[in-house]
Amino acid sequence: MATLDLFGSPAEGARDWLAPQAVVLRGRALSCADELLDAVAAVIAQAPLRQMVTPGGLTIAVASTNCGVLGWTSDRRGYRYSREDPVTGRRWPAMPACFAQLARQAAADAGFPGFEPDACLVNQYLPGTRLSLHQDKNERDFGAPIVSVSLGMAAVFLFGGHERADRAFKVNLHHGDVAVWGGADRLRYHGVMPLEDAPYAQLGSRRINLTFRKAG
Ligand code: SIN
Ligand code: FE2
Repeated sequence: MATLDLFGSPAEGARDWLAPQAVVLRGRALSCADELLDAVAAVIAQAPLRQMVTPGGLTIAVASTNCGVLGWTSDRRGYRYSREDPVTGRRWPAMPACFAQLARQAAADAGFPGFEPDACLVNQYLPGTRLSLHQDKNERDFGAPIVSVSLGMAAVFLFGGHERADRAFKVNLHHGDVAVWGGADRLRYHGVMPLEDAPYAQLGSRRINLTFRKAG
């Protein structure tokens, strides 16, 4: 496995390219991180974090919720986007303005102008939680990029190829980093290594990831 040696805290404003159309914008969310965290708490108060079940019946380690018009869900019937939260029976909370603005601007910085996300998946990782290699492919078209914002504890992100077995880069993602991938790199496999317990400031032993997509 190739390692992009980016441990330690890279300089805010640095750009680490993982592939021609995949980049980590270092510290891109730092200036609005407190506002993002307040908004995350408000979303979770309306649509609680829950561990979803895969179609195969396995419980997903990451706890999730959503905001925006569409929310990603998984259960025994499959993976899909829905307008209602199956737990509350209500629409997902609206996407906070600071979320949409950051996602739009980060996408443009990464070479994807005009990104208008309609879905934001909020994922919570605790120490030991991992996310196995997968492709994001439940969206209607793959023309729009994925924008992924890291908050709280650092994680080792895996960014691979178009086959599950392709070698993957390991990249440390810190509080405030924003990863963006799209175009020819939109369907690359990616995942997260089991989290080490290194508590970070306000969030303690938690990592929150916001994944913005154009799903519908
Ligand atoms: C994801 O692939 O949906 C999340 C990636 C991350 O948590 O950094
Ligand atoms: Fe993903």
